[in-house]
Amino acid sequence: MGIRRPLRPLAGRMALGAALLAAACLSAPAAEAAARPGIPLGDHGAAKMEFQLQELAKLLPEADVTHAPAGLDPVIWEAFVPKDNEMSARRVALGRKLYFDTRLSKDGTVACATCHDVTRGFTDQLKVSEGIGNQLGQRNAPTVLNTALLQVAFLDGRSPTLDHQATQPILNPVEMGMPDAAAAVKAISGDPEYQQAFKEAYGRDVNFEDLGRAIAAFERTLVFLDSPFRRFLEGDPNAISADARAGWDLFNGKARCVTCHHMSPGNPLGTDNRFHNIGVSARHQDFESLATQALKLLKADPSEKRLDELALSTPMSELGRFMVTKNRADIGAFRTSILLNVAITPPYMHDGSLPTLWDVMDHYNKGGEANLFLDGGMEPLALTEAEIDQLVAFMFSLTDSRLAAENERQLIAQRNAAARVRAFRDDKIARRKKLAFEDRIKDATRRPK
Ligand code: HEC
Ligand code: HEC
Repeated sequence: MGIRRPLRPLAGRMALGAALLAAACLSAPAAEAAARPGIPLGDHGAAKMEFQLQELAKLLPEADVTHAPAGLDPVIWEAFVPKDNEMSARRVALGRKLYFDTRLSKDGTVACATCHDVTRGFTDQLKVSEGIGNQLGQRNAPTVLNTALLQVAFLDGRSPTLDHQATQPILNPVEMGMPDAAAAVKAISGDPEYQQAFKEAYGRDVNFEDLGRAIAAFERTLVFLDSPFRRFLEGDPNAISADARAGWDLFNGKARCVTCHHMSPGNPLGTDNRFHNIGVSARHQDFESLATQALKLLKADPSEKRLDELALSTPMSELGRFMVTKNRADIGAFRTSILLNVAITPPYMHDGSLPTLWDVMDHYNKGGEANLFLDGGMEPLALTEAEIDQLVAFMFSLTDSRLAAENERQLIAQRNAAARVRAFRDDKIARRKKLAFEDRIKDATRRPK
């Protein structure tokens, strides 16, 4: 087994010496997270599809999919199931088959499960994702767990529903790379099993829209809300540690996380479903010229396919929500992340730039990277090291109990990595010993255009 995943794409592209150098620089959490004895690996370093299916069966025993998932109010659930895609066992079974089917990619090596791997918290735990021909995109793959409960899909909200979202990666040139919908349909429509399954599920022949619907129906079974924190909220004070309880108080108080990450029994995901610029890797951006460039390109070709390409494979990715609304106030804004199960989906943020939850806390403690579009809710927090540990302990209590083993593995890997290096920490700004925003914003505006 050993170290593999983060190395392979590099090794393919570089001379041996450079690859060895890269190996030496391989970030520690990536190396530790890569060591997973007993998990057989297939294309692109994802767990083998058959193995993922076995693991999935353990996580999701047979259940009546027409009922609301455990822990959700049926009335709330109904609002998240589209009228043209009511849940049925046949639809879910079809979607499950499609989710793991690499035939839906141009070179037959990539499926949804390549980047949203059952054994890795339904993401790939990579900085940015790798698609056909070992191409890297610009964005970090979020988990598909609980996406059924989101109001819009994608980190910039460019897709209105899961049903629509599921068709997009199939057509994206750096993900699954099918030239068009017809090619995707053709790849599977010769298979008699699919012909029958589509007929039974939707009463029609194999077609692209129903393919998206079926995958979305399967994703709607991936509701994982049963965390120790939930049991704490339901009245068991000992369901989480004293540190995690202190972290929850900070979350709602001094650290002000709650202003964007709403979290309550009625809103368990921990997102406000809104978009904010929180200064992730903003230091490297010339937002103004990127925005001008994006407007020109989107004027020339306003199609959703073009938008998807610009978002995933160009530096314009960093513009985030602006690419969808063209409102300058949305420059660098991304949807507030889901916090449930967050501990098992490193690295963090839309660009995967923060390796551990300790790095995330260092980022917030200094109020993010200053930039002209920074959300007003971001400012230095002056959290102590003990308080940072408590907030991290709180976030580790948000993982569904079925995923507890991976949570434990991540706790060890991330804690060890953070003990070695905290690259995003800046105590002077965090404690306001340096004038934070005022000084830094002057630098930002002085920067040559
Ligand atoms: C090559 C890797 C890759 C493949 C293959 C892939 N995805 Fe993704 N997925 C991503 C990345 C990266 C994002 C974030 C893109 C963005 O938000 O702009 C994403 C976003 C998503 C989201 C949105 C989650 C959210 O929080 O809004 C869902 C749902 C999703 N993918 C499901 C799927 C499905 C279903 C398939 C198969 C049809 C699939 N993905 C194939 C990498 C991949
Ligand atoms: C001003 C709104 C805002 C505040 C305040 C805020 N967040 Fe966030 N949070 C976001 C947004 C937006 C993202 C996604 C940013 C991105 O991807 O670039 C995010 C992402 C994250 C992530 C990464 C999740 C992932 O899967 O990549 C974590 C963890 C997180 N926040 C925790 C916290 C904690 C803890 C606090 C309090 C210290 C906090 N947030 C305060 C808006 C906010």
